[in-house]
Amino acid sequence: MQITILGSTGQVGKATLKEALNLGYKVKVLVRSPEKLGDLKEKVIVIKGDLLDPLAVEEALKGSEAVINAAGGVKEPDQYTKFRKIGEILVEKMKQEKITRLVNISGAVMCLSAEKLDFKRKIMKVFVRLFYPQMKQAQEAIIPVIESEPAISWTFVRAPMISKAGGTGKTAANDKKMPGTKIMLEDLAKFMAEQVASAEWVRKAPWVASV
Ligand SMILES: NC(=O)c1ccc[n+]([C@@H]2O[C@H](COP(=O)([O-])OP(=O)(O)OC[C@H]3O[C@@H](n4cnc5c(N)ncnc54)[C@H](OP(=O)(O)O)[C@@H]3O)[C@@H](O)[C@H]2O)c1
Repeated sequence: MQITILGSTGQVGKATLKEALNLGYKVKVLVRSPEKLGDLKEKVIVIKGDLLDPLAVEEALKGSEAVINAAGGVKEPDQYTKFRKIGEILVEKMKQEKITRLVNISGAVMCLSAEKLDFKRKIMKVFVRLFYPQMKQAQEAIIPVIESEPAISWTFVRAPMISKAGGTGKTAANDKKMPGTKIMLEDLAKFMAEQVASAEWVRKAPWVASV
């Protein structure tokens, strides 16, 4: 089965790409800088382009049965506007290519439209706003675009602090309360890749943590 991974030159995206290849998926990626993929470049189908380019997104999605979007806000201007557009293009092209499954990275302080932040996450949000403003802007832009789309079976994977230490191999997920404040990168990547074939968290936004 072929899937498309977006944001695969990033920290989360590259780790998720490795896990998806381990699971036996044929993977297409859309990247601005193929050299950032290193050796992985030889193991995937690379489309060079920007997520803001509808034709590049269309090419990257062609022939895939699911999408993992690990792209996040980067230190470039107008991340809110750009990620709103990225969400709109992604939804439009997924519908055009008749792809219904989307696994999307997100952050612990992010909310679905029907949710409210509890006190603990309000404090965390201040920290994210101060230190990772682009990450916050991108997520606040893309979530409503995808969430409101009935044709997409989305899952937002809400990650807390990511640690690069080796994975524990055990992940807790819960869409009512945060199961922990830290996730190892390998565990997050494995969880993301596994969601492609799982219906457990469809149209839900689980928080995940290493246990
Ligand atoms: N890092 C953390 O500690 C953390 C914690 C909790 C949640 N998260 C969530 O995880 C997301 C990803 O984090 P990360 O650490 O993997 O971020 P990252 O390393 O900065 O990766 C961001 C990825 O998005 C891609 N991207 C951004 N704009 C693009 C565009 N216009 N066209 C094509 N690609 C584009 C980047 O491509 P380029 O390489 O070309 O720039 C890169 O591959 C965050 O935004 C956040 O929602 C992260």
